[in-house]
Amino acid sequence: MKSIRKAVFPVAGMGTRFLPATKASPKEMLPIVDKPLIQYAADEAIAAGIDTLIFIIGRNKRAIADHFDKAYELEVELEAKQKTKLLKLARDVVPDHVSCIFIRQAEALGLGHAVLCAAPAVGDEPFAVILADDLVKSDGPNVMEQMIAVYNEYHASVIGTETIDKSESSKYGMVAGPEVAPGIAQVDKIVEKPAPEDAPSDQGVVGRYILTPGIFEKLRTTGRGAGGEIQLTDAIAALREDEKVYAYSFKGRRYDCGSKLGYLEATVEYALCHDELKDDFCNYLKHLKCVTK
Ligand code: G1P
Repeated sequence: MKSIRKAVFPVAGMGTRFLPATKASPKEMLPIVDKPLIQYAADEAIAAGIDTLIFIIGRNKRAIADHFDKAYELEVELEAKQKTKLLKLARDVVPDHVSCIFIRQAEALGLGHAVLCAAPAVGDEPFAVILADDLVKSDGPNVMEQMIAVYNEYHASVIGTETIDKSESSKYGMVAGPEVAPGIAQVDKIVEKPAPEDAPSDQGVVGRYILTPGIFEKLRTTGRGAGGEIQLTDAIAALREDEKVYAYSFKGRRYDCGSKLGYLEATVEYALCHDELKDDFCNYLKHLKCVTK
């Protein structure tokens, strides 16, 4: 059985919900406290044993390639000033054993199209897909580690899901199917962004997938779906006709950092766990509560 070594990060979206912050800079570079969203996603993959990061980039995404590149001038300056802690932070963005591949998605034709752009770099092996704006915080193994464990048991595609309010179904891929083990269901239905009355269940897809390479053939033949885009969800629905696909309800708290409220919630909660900041920030919030009462 092939292990999961590669992760695809689609980062070609326009990020219009965060304009003007995202006018010239990608939304995945927005920081939560002191780390950009895309680095949380990369760190999650690397901690789960992935050694090849494949970024599908669009226009205005130079900052992402620069972030994962060596920053010579910065390193020389930090070295000269003997700022070893900061130097380590800059260098540790990509550990030595990890390689990065950047692929340009020339047209923004949707998530499915972005994943298809990764086909030459992925080849004939199972791989992960991580959407950086779904940030997941967990106490134990991270969400990708949990999903790889499920893949290793079932040897089939695994989609990360969570219970959502059905009234929100038109923002998500929605899945349904019988439970085969606690938290694991065999998908027999998956629909992209249905109206609440058409949602097959209350299980929404979040931005974590492990896919078998069979998905590429499906993506090639999937026409445009919801929103006129080539949808990953539609290709997974087609894959399900040939292979088993599982939905995994991960352990952890997800922040929808593609929305302003989710982004702010993540910022506050990550700050409250941050070694350098937590005490001062907690005091600040307590004080703020007093003064705004
Ligand atoms: C994408 C997927 C959707 C999934 C969502 C999770 O939609 O198409 O199935 O539920 O990510 O964040 P997007 O949010 O990019 O519109």
